Amino acid sequence: MRTDSPQTIYRKDYTPPSYLVETVELGFDLDPARTIVANRITLRHNPEAAQDHRDIVLHGEDIELVALRLNGTELNPGQYIVGTSTLTIKKAPLNVVLEIETTCAPEQNTTLSGLYVSNNSFYTQCEAEGFRRITYFPDRPDVMAKFTVMLRADKQKYPVLLSNGNLVEEGDLDNGRHYAKWEDPFKKPSYLFALVAARLVCQEETFRLADGRNALLQVWVEEGNLDKTDYAMQSLKNSIRWDEERWGLELDLDRFMIVAVGDFNMGAMENKGLNIFNTKFVLANPATATDVDFAGIEAVVGHEYFHNWTGNRVTCRDWFQLSLKEGLTVFRDQEFSADMIGTDSGRAVTRIDQVRTLRQAQFPEDAGPMAHPVRPDSFVEINNFYTVTVYEKGAEVVRMYQTLLGRDAFRKGMDLYFERHDGQAVTCDDFRAAMASAAGRDLAQFERWYSQAGTPIVTASGTYDEEAQRYTLTLAQRCPPTPGQAEKLPFHIPVAVGLLDAKGRDLALNGEGDTTVVLELTEAEQTFTFDAIAELPVPSLLRDFSAPVVLEYPYTDEELLHLFRHDSDPVNRWEAGQRLAMARLLRLTAAVQNGEKLELDYTFIAAQRALLVDETLEAAFREQALILPSESLIADQMEAVDPQAIHTARRFMRETIAKVLRNELQNAVAANATPGPYSPDAVSAGKRGLKNLALSYLLAAPDDFTLDLATRQVAEATNMTDRAAALVALIHSGADVEAQLQSFYDEFKGEALVVDKWFAMQASAPTTDVARIRELMTHPAFTLKTPNRARSLIFNFTNANPSQFHAPDGSGYEFWAEHVIKLDALNPQVAARLARSMDRWRRYLPDLQPHMRRALETVAAAPKLSNDVMEVISKALA
Ligand code: PHE
Ligand code: ZN
Repeated sequence: MRTDSPQTIYRKDYTPPSYLVETVELGFDLDPARTIVANRITLRHNPEAAQDHRDIVLHGEDIELVALRLNGTELNPGQYIVGTSTLTIKKAPLNVVLEIETTCAPEQNTTLSGLYVSNNSFYTQCEAEGFRRITYFPDRPDVMAKFTVMLRADKQKYPVLLSNGNLVEEGDLDNGRHYAKWEDPFKKPSYLFALVAARLVCQEETFRLADGRNALLQVWVEEGNLDKTDYAMQSLKNSIRWDEERWGLELDLDRFMIVAVGDFNMGAMENKGLNIFNTKFVLANPATATDVDFAGIEAVVGHEYFHNWTGNRVTCRDWFQLSLKEGLTVFRDQEFSADMIGTDSGRAVTRIDQVRTLRQAQFPEDAGPMAHPVRPDSFVEINNFYTVTVYEKGAEVVRMYQTLLGRDAFRKGMDLYFERHDGQAVTCDDFRAAMASAAGRDLAQFERWYSQAGTPIVTASGTYDEEAQRYTLTLAQRCPPTPGQAEKLPFHIPVAVGLLDAKGRDLALNGEGDTTVVLELTEAEQTFTFDAIAELPVPSLLRDFSAPVVLEYPYTDEELLHLFRHDSDPVNRWEAGQRLAMARLLRLTAAVQNGEKLELDYTFIAAQRALLVDETLEAAFREQALILPSESLIADQMEAVDPQAIHTARRFMRETIAKVLRNELQNAVAANATPGPYSPDAVSAGKRGLKNLALSYLLAAPDDFTLDLATRQVAEATNMTDRAAALVALIHSGADVEAQLQSFYDEFKGEALVVDKWFAMQASAPTTDVARIRELMTHPAFTLKTPNRARSLIFNFTNANPSQFHAPDGSGYEFWAEHVIKLDALNPQVAARLARSMDRWRRYLPDLQPHMRRALETVAAAPKLSNDVMEVISKALA
């Protein structure tokens, strides 16, 4: 809650800590109403701080100070200063032992930051600044210390007591209590601390590491969920192997634990040796989880495991450097997922997914009021900067090093980074310096990817000189202004290029016969020439999405169709189809607005057909290529966004395709059945994906046959992927699904993650209006307190159901304002995420904007708003 006016924190104000912490001994007497925390820290003056800077600054929030001793002597309130979130001891000696006793109330803690209770068990979440909600401490990532933790709790209620590192002692106490003592052999920042005191069971396994050591791997879940831990365990083993093989990085612990908790703000957390996960990214079996869920588990288990080196062994100096660990670790988990599939086309499908996420979420962020560089210069609330820019754009920045330097030099750069910085808290500049040294290259200009916000726009134009057999490509770049950054300097942009001949074959681009070359665009405009080009080529630009930019090239339909049919780069092949579709969707949207007749050309449909029936292509790729740009992507292309017109246009396009390609779509449903036991592998998942996409197309123009097909699939499916997909398609078709929804709920009401799906599929259906959402909120299974549940209904409505959320009467916005305020009283982090649904309100139709402004102002005027929400709302209104 806000106690004073929010303060902006600047990167430029960084100063080293005045004191370093050597050891931390924590004692917990766990009680949901009043937990007592005894904290003994040994500090010594930091030689890198000014010699006369002798203030010890500890952070603390929402905790009660009971006692404070310095080098054995009790301090009284006159000897220290307690601010709103700090405790300062002035003029301290060089070497200090502090003994601090505090209490907190975990059961009252609905923020899910610090120590909290979920389903009667204790969990912690300390990133970014949650440790200060547990005890007073210099809660900043550049203070790294060795932790020893003693946990005491009721044995019956909390049979399992876990913390970071190794279990060194355990036993019984009086009054039905027991204890466990854990020791983490590695120095770590406080944000990586964790404890769990819970009633849980585990799947465990001993795993042999590359150097022959054995490690104990455990996946802890609530009773009754052990039938859903296999995939997480398998993913963990795959992650460990992959990190050894691809990067030479080994697990440094004897024991590695994953714990699943139902109340969690984010996806998961990389606490040293004790990763705590949202159940969504652990629990899965074929009956409850979809292919997308399985892929998510693999990625997130990998992500958290990979943090052990990129994040934990080498951590961030300050929170402005967050992308140092997150961008790099997302890149690593992306590569892991791609390598697990193994085939080039499978890799391409994962890349297409990444591009889609960037365009869908990151480009809008970069063009909106919350735009910030990958390494931000300032923030009010760090929790608001766990963004797609820091994560996904950050991963693109890391990927660009690999594209520019090549895989071998990139690997050398990684090795050097670990060699230089293991055990340290460092900056994005340190990472870049390691890459530059290892590759022997000047990467000074590359720094702008970290410092400048906004999505660069690259415009390309080509000319062909037949006589000289020369193709000349001119590339120019610009970057739109973002808040606080009016002017941008040119970026260092890798542009991967290929040239196709009239038959669709790749032309050799140089003496070595390369068919793709990476051009380095470093100036505002540059010209590149290709010799020995025998005919006028069609350029395939930005292959594999070699940089996070918008590429403009005046492609004709013929050229795009050529690329869509032939490009050897699957990402650009997909891209050509997206460009063809987008142009049509924009024309149709304008036609809806002007009351004109809606028409879709046969050329486009024929191209879709050819791709749909091309058995030489993987199902997963065909699925990607047939998905039309989403309503929000179309919105991004419009001057004044008209959600209703967009919705009508896209619907018309799907309906038309469904009618014309009815036979082919039906065949695709039949041909891509996956009989036999369910397997989440990429090939099977791809088949299900294509089959279910075809089914949803068919239901865009429903008739008895297709309705029956979907109804049977809901009833007969043996896995959640097929079942949910058919049900969603039915809901979207407007069919009466009351009974099916009811029986789905009845069957799965004991599975929280499936109930989330049940809410989500209704919330995101264009047939669900705000009145129905309000009705669903009165359902006994609904609660605002569990983020997964709140997101399933509310976020899916505001973010995934644009035609209803943007109802012309503003009722969707009123609903939004009401729930931002309600959620904020419980959980500011989750509320602030919801607050962002209105980021780009100034881009909507003039008729909608006053409603949107009013809703924003309603939130801004609410009493006791958190800093989290305040920052988002004030930036939106600025
Ligand atoms: N560091 C976590 C991750 O990306 C994300 C996270 C941030 C989780 C803050 C909780 C709180 O893996
Ligand atoms: Zn992460």
